[in-house]
Amino acid sequence: MTLDFKGKTVLVTGATRGIGQRIADDLGRLGARLILTGTKPEQIAELNARAPASTRYYCVDLLDRDSLDTFLRELDAYERIDGLVNNAGINRLNSVGDILEGDWDDMLEVNLTAPFRLLKHVSRRMVEGQYGRVVQIASIFSKVSKERRATYSATKFGLHGLTVGASNDLARYNILINTLSPGFVMTDLTRKNLSPEEISALSAQVPAKRFAETGDISSVAVFLLSDLNQYLTGQNIFVDGGFTNV
Ligand SMILES: NC(=O)c1ccc[n+]([C@@H]2O[C@H](COP(=O)([O-])OP(=O)(O)OC[C@H]3O[C@@H](n4cnc5c(N)ncnc54)[C@H](OP(=O)(O)O)[C@@H]3O)[C@@H](O)[C@H]2O)c1
Repeated sequence: MTLDFKGKTVLVTGATRGIGQRIADDLGRLGARLILTGTKPEQIAELNARAPASTRYYCVDLLDRDSLDTFLRELDAYERIDGLVNNAGINRLNSVGDILEGDWDDMLEVNLTAPFRLLKHVSRRMVEGQYGRVVQIASIFSKVSKERRATYSATKFGLHGLTVGASNDLARYNILINTLSPGFVMTDLTRKNLSPEEISALSAQVPAKRFAETGDISSVAVFLLSDLNQYLTGQNIFVDGGFTNV
């Protein structure tokens, strides 16, 4: 059994940092052709200048429907798309009574509506090719929640609902879709939302006694995207060091 992505094209959103960047790096090392996204034009230009011919970065703001529409049209240039990782996500914290309508709308747009629109478009291409592997990056907050995470949980519970529903439509075409739910991972998003004291206190509560590294999440994503996965679909896989079982 080997992990080999030669001849496979995989799209990863939010691949300029954090979890998405690590998944893209690992897939690239395994031979995948990569379609990657980020939001900052200068950074995208720099990354494209350094990227191998098999990798192309696109500037896509998932808050902007026109930006996503343009990107979806650009995808038509690819002969096939074998894998999709809906990874890009945002999190703005507030207690339920203080949630700003704009934050609610933005989080729904980036974390749920954009993944739906990408899945709708890309799954049609996968049906044509009778093959596909999709990973939706949710969170432990797709199963449990915590104060000030009502909006985030609403989007991530919804994302897994999309996975479950779509798995029923797609499995007959050898298109397998799963949710991957990380626990606490050391990324920019985590450093923004948790103080060093909170990180230390939460680490002590995780059975594995540490936060995840991005590689801990990527290795599971790579499996789900690979041909080693032939029969797993519609599931929510928690990569959380045991946290949701405590
Ligand atoms: N970190 C954690 O502990 C943790 C835990 C559970 C789940 N997750 C989930 O894992 C995923 C990745 O998280 P992360 O921690 O790796 O995030 P991150 O370090 O904050 O990186 C976010 C990525 O998404 C992109 N992005 C942000 N806003 C966007 C927008 N409006 N349109 C398009 N792309 C946008 C960013 O692009 P730019 O670089 O251009 O801004 C970046 O590539 C998210 O879905 C998150 O909810 C994270």
